Amino acid sequence: EKGGYEHYMLKEIHEQPTALRQAISGRLDELHGDVDLDIELPEEYLQSLEEIQIVACGTSYHAGMVAAQLFEEHASVRTSVEIASEYEFQGGRDPWRTLVVAVTQSGETADTLSALRKANRSGARTLAVTNTVGSTATREADHTLYIRAGPEIGVAATKTFASQVATLTLLSVYLGRHRSELGSSRASDVLASVRNLPGAVQQALDAESQVLEVAETYVDSDAFFFIGRELGYPVALEGALKLKEISYDHAEGFAAGELKHGPLALVTPNTPTLAVLTEGTRSKETLNNVKEVESRGSPVVGCSSLEDGGLLDAAFDVPEIGVMEPLVANVYLQLFAYHVANLKGRPIDKPRNLAKSVTVE
Ligand code: M6R
Repeated sequence: EKGGYEHYMLKEIHEQPTALRQAISGRLDELHGDVDLDIELPEEYLQSLEEIQIVACGTSYHAGMVAAQLFEEHASVRTSVEIASEYEFQGGRDPWRTLVVAVTQSGETADTLSALRKANRSGARTLAVTNTVGSTATREADHTLYIRAGPEIGVAATKTFASQVATLTLLSVYLGRHRSELGSSRASDVLASVRNLPGAVQQALDAESQVLEVAETYVDSDAFFFIGRELGYPVALEGALKLKEISYDHAEGFAAGELKHGPLALVTPNTPTLAVLTEGTRSKETLNNVKEVESRGSPVVGCSSLEDGGLLDAAFDVPEIGVMEPLVANVYLQLFAYHVANLKGRPIDKPRNLAKSVTVE
């Protein structure tokens, strides 16, 4: 049932190229720079849309953070992303010109359903982005967009994060095209990057033995830090979440520029930093932060598409595929979390105190 893998998590990490192909299958029209998503949002509504609010928890929240940046960039629509358990529909906003997007793999997360219900009560149009056919979220939202990742058994979300980000990227193109904010050639570039993603993820998976070696080197560290900018910031948060939930080590993700505003005090030679250095992450600036931590003696591991990673102690190669590169970096961070936890003998598929689907608020 685990297809020869020791854990579901590892199997699901390796299923990502297939999951991604399923997510994009039949949806790309690269020639015309368009997508077909089977969601029927009225044309005039899309054009008058003023605001998108994304609500989600945990890993899905991190996917939402990526999406928010892409919605703003590709569709020029103001987008906020809110932790579902903190969500309130703000009075004074125009519900008719607002779209609330609930991102939830299971479609059953109580906090996300509660936010979705608040949005429905406000009169805003709602869209569920989910993996689970017929889930509560699909029944309660006005529209549904499936991420088509296939079943995920491991408590740690891996392939569903990849499929969420790919699907939400397609949604950003859909919105951008219907709002006439995204030209067809720019849209084609984004779609080419999405098309190249499964192959690039496979290349990262093929480098697993290198990740294992790095995990062996740092397994006994006091803590682990993850840094990135722009699209690299949610990936840093996600890398830290994955590591903490399955290894029980202290792991934190930071916006790279924030290091010097406090967290740098935690950095020692026994706290490695993992940095996201790809397209879409202002990697040149992040390299300055890499220097900051290295000068405090902290080893730095980069997930990098840079020609010259400079001072890195280890570098995981991210193929140059454009805007989707941070998602390849994320695959390395998943493998790193997995191998650190596995070296420690943790119960990877069922970490203590956690459940796959959190059905209480
Ligand atoms: O099913 P959902 O996407 O709504 O789940 C939200 C979170 O509980 C979930 O992403 C959680 O953070 C992950 N299992 C962590 O790996």
